[in-house]
Parts: sequence; structure tokens; C-alpha cells
Amino acid sequence: MSLFHPIHHTFAPLADAKQRRRALALSYLPWRYKRGPYEEKLRTALEEKFHAKAFLFSTGREALFAFLRSIPANPGDEVIVQGYTCVVVPNAIHGAGLTPIYCDIERDTLNLDCDALEMLITPKTRAIICQHTFGIPADAKRLREICDRTGILLIEDCAHVIPDEAGPKEIGEFGDALLLSFGRDKAISGITGGAIVSRVASANATLERIWKHAHDLSFFTILRLLEYPNIYGWAKLFYGLGMGKLSLVLHAKIGALRPILTTQEKHGRMKRTLHRMPDVCAALALEQLGRLPELNDHRRMLTKFFCEEGRKRNWPMLQGICHGWFDGEMVAKQERSSLRDISGNRLRTIQPSTHPTIFPPLQKFPLFTKGAETIRRALKSRNIHLHDGWTSCVVCPASVNLPDTGYELGNDPAAEAVCEDILSLPTHPTMTMRQAEELVESLDPLLQKEDHIE
Ligand SMILES: Cc1ncc(COP(=O)(O)O)c(C=O)c1O
Repeated sequence: MSLFHPIHHTFAPLADAKQRRRALALSYLPWRYKRGPYEEKLRTALEEKFHAKAFLFSTGREALFAFLRSIPANPGDEVIVQGYTCVVVPNAIHGAGLTPIYCDIERDTLNLDCDALEMLITPKTRAIICQHTFGIPADAKRLREICDRTGILLIEDCAHVIPDEAGPKEIGEFGDALLLSFGRDKAISGITGGAIVSRVASANATLERIWKHAHDLSFFTILRLLEYPNIYGWAKLFYGLGMGKLSLVLHAKIGALRPILTTQEKHGRMKRTLHRMPDVCAALALEQLGRLPELNDHRRMLTKFFCEEGRKRNWPMLQGICHGWFDGEMVAKQERSSLRDISGNRLRTIQPSTHPTIFPPLQKFPLFTKGAETIRRALKSRNIHLHDGWTSCVVCPASVNLPDTGYELGNDPAAEAVCEDILSLPTHPTMTMRQAEELVESLDPLLQKEDHIE
């Protein structure tokens, strides 16, 4: 057990040393906070990557809202979204005057159940949001076929994963629009930010107009955002001693940390004032976009590691998917000695005969056990913090007032079951292989004791 560096999901998971240094340097340049060259550079990079128009906003939820305002729809028209999602997604739908229709998920992919979805399509359906939950590829090809047949738009929510050259190939290929988030714990981070990548030519003029009228975030807000990586960086150093937690509580109390969700948002409402992505945040996101293969490889490495360890130990994993990964085509053989994690540490446990490129770069690695909450609580005393805001909630986090989201209990039974039993393990870029090994050693006895292996 480490007293210093916690194992965690949410303590600035993408703020590595590079991002911390850059954020600190940028915080001394207030005249560059709002506007500058990086917003345009990030936009161009996304347009080149996805061969479509990109529009940047200060969050992914704002980007989604802007897109939904740009497509032809009447008030009350419907957008299908999966159960087991983040509240900001239905909020953006509500905000645009539309109605979210919740569709159940497949337990084995945590993504839209296409059979259930077909039953929900009505003449009022305007769009389907396909969320590649935690980076697990949804069946976007089948969704594309459904959308082509019915004349509905497909929005791929890529908040949790941005594909690189190595894949996953099926992500980002089929959508009429792609939703990206550069939030703190997403695929890549600019601390805040989001984009809609639009392949709907008829929506682009309206999107451009909405973007041009968007406001700037205030200097103080941007300063608080830039301080976030370093406040967490220091807090993490001493987290196991209690001082880290105290420091975070104090920073939150004096307003130095910007909350991810407002009270209003937890009550199903979204502000209609949109903001541009601050140039300094675009600079941070652009830097991580440039390192996307490296960041994704790190996630692939940890995904493969947890898959292999879980298989050896008979953990309750997403069976269909893990087996698919193992049975798939293996590529690019590498020697064990040459494999290192992102911090340069040599990998000790993995016995690779293969490079893990067939494994998707999961944003987190899900397990399922009836004892999920008990295990999370037990691990806290070992400085392992597995609460991630995606437990015990169909519309997450659990602090959301469910009736305000339009979700009715009992609607999506698979989503309701999954969110109770899920126990996710971190795969983010600042999680080292050594920590992954420590996590496996601490977790395994608890999982075996729970006797809930399915
Ligand atoms: C699946 C999903 N989509 C979209 C978003 C929106 O991202 P942002 O926080 O940038 O608004 C989130 C945020 O948590 C999310 O989890």
C-alpha cells in the first residue's frame, strides 16, 4: 500500500507532468487565456483527423447542445440515448427543446441494445446518440444501417475514446456527427473543452453562427481551470496521509476548484449560454491529441493486463468482449523487455508474445460483482479510490435527481442492474503498471471472498 500516490479514477487522471508544467506556464500568461492560435490549431487538427467540420465549445455538453439546435427538429421531437449515461447528455437534449428517450443497453458491451432501440423509433425520432461507453465500441455499423433506413441522424459520443491509427476502427467512422469532450477524465484532456465534428453540411452554417456568438469564460474561471492539474498534483503526493484530501476540501471551499456539475445540472437543467473553448485549454488538449497513440497505447496496455489477470483469476469481466480480444488477430510481436508503461517503467507481470493493439484503449476496465460497493469501501483504507461517479445511477452521477432527467425507474432493466454491480478499474495515463499490479493484488482476495464471480 502506498501512502503517497493514490490509485484513483478522478484525481486529475490525465494531468501528467507535461500537462502540469504547461498549465503552470500558461497560467502566467493571462492575455492568452481566452483567444489565441491554439483554438484554431485544435479545430484544424480535428478537421484533418475526421475529414469534417469541427466546432469547439467550452464543454462537450455545449457542443452537443449546439448541434441539436442546428438540426431541423420541432419542440418535443425525440433523441434516443442509452440508459447508463451522464446527466449532461439528456440535459443538452432537454435544453435544445427535445425529449430524451432512454434505451436499454447490452450488459456485455454497456452500449445501446440495437434490438431494443428499433422498438423505440417513432416518426418523432430525430437522432440517436451512440455512446462508446468507457471506450468499448458500440455497434455503430448496425446503428448506421438503422439510421439510413429511417432517415435519423447518428451522433457518436466519443467522450470516452478517441481512436488513433491502431483503432478501434469502428469508432468515429459511421456517425453523422461526433461528440468529443476534453474534460478532466475523458479520452484526452484540456481540463475543459468539447467539440462537435459535423458531417451534416446543412447544419454547419447554424453551428458556425452559434459558435461565433458564444461567450468567453472569465479570466478567473480559466485561472481556476489552469490551477486544477497542480492542485491535484500536490494533493495526490500526500493523499494517503490525509493532507491531500484536506487540501482538496480547502481548495473546493474557497472556490479554487471548478465543479464538473452544477446543482442546476443535477436537476436536469442546462444553461443556454454557450462558451468558446479557452485558448489555453485548447493548447493543452492539442498537446494530448498529438500524443494520442502514446496515451491510447498506455490504456491498451492496462486493458490487456486486466484482461489477462482477470482471465487467470476468473474475474467477472465482460466475457464476450474479453474473449473476442484474446481470440482476435494478434499483431506486431514484441519482446517482453521492450515493453514499458508510459512512465518508462519496465512491465513486470505481462508476458506478452504480442503487442496489445487489438485491445481497445478503454477509459476504464469494468468488472461486475454484487459486492462492488463493499469492495470499493474496503479498498479506500489502502489508498485505492475506485468511486468514479458511474455507480448506482442510470443517469449519472448518483447525486442527480432522477425524475428531472425524464428517466423512469424500470425502463431499462439491464442498465439498472449494471450500474449496481459495476466495479471499474482505472486505465488512465497517470495510472502506472506498478499501481495496476498493486491493485490486482489488493482486489483479488476481496473479489474471491465476495464469491460473486459469475
Ligand atoms: C458519455 C459522455 N458524453 C458526453 C459528456 C460531456 O462532456 P463534458 O463534460 O465535456 O460536457 C460526458 C461527460 O461526462 C460523458 O460522460
